[in-house]
Amino acid sequence: MQLFLDTANLEEISEIASWGVLDGVTTNPSLVSKESGWDFKKLVKEICKIVPGPVSAECVSEDAEALLKEGRDIATWAENVVVKCPLTPAGLSACSKLAKDGIKVNVTLCFSVNQALLAARAGAYFISPFVGRLDDINQDGAALVEQIAEMYHVQGIETQVLAASIRTPMHVEKAALAGADACTMPYKVFKQLVSHPLTETGLKNFLADWKKAHPAVATQK
Ligand code: G3P
Repeated sequence: MQLFLDTANLEEISEIASWGVLDGVTTNPSLVSKESGWDFKKLVKEICKIVPGPVSAECVSEDAEALLKEGRDIATWAENVVVKCPLTPAGLSACSKLAKDGIKVNVTLCFSVNQALLAARAGAYFISPFVGRLDDINQDGAALVEQIAEMYHVQGIETQVLAASIRTPMHVEKAALAGADACTMPYKVFKQLVSHPLTETGLKNFLADWKKAHPAVATQK
């Protein structure tokens, strides 16, 4: 499973990119709007320079023709940009034409298997089922990821499942076990993935024992 950051914040992206494990980035209009003072196009182009992998930038138009026009423009911003369209009739229409242009589309705001089937038929490169928002209304978001992955496998569909709306490390674990191709998460969750108290305690004790047995070397450093 590829690991993506769900943010438009350049500092967060740069920090996690330095770990050597960041495969891509997803943004959305709310995340971009948090980065005050930034032009959308310039911000996305900066993100695309930091991360060589897929960077999703979402259209904000509402009708099919405007979505198509906006998506074709966004596609010119960088080699690794992915156009994001909503799972609506207008979004499917734009996706189907963008896909025929050879443009990668991430169809977002997916909350059902049938929606994921429609997105695949429209030529989506990624489908983004929103795990956290389903959990928020007491439905099983991780189960949806598993069902979509299974349906795509059974149907021989190549659209990639990008688990989104991730709230906790447990969501990441469940997405991986459910067979998601990628998982996009907030910076906070990414940082939680690497942390474990036993790792920290274990390393501290290793180094303390080493320094005790090698006092001369320890003081040289
Ligand atoms: O960016 C798409 C998705 O990950 C956002 O989900 O629920 O955190 O707003 P949410």
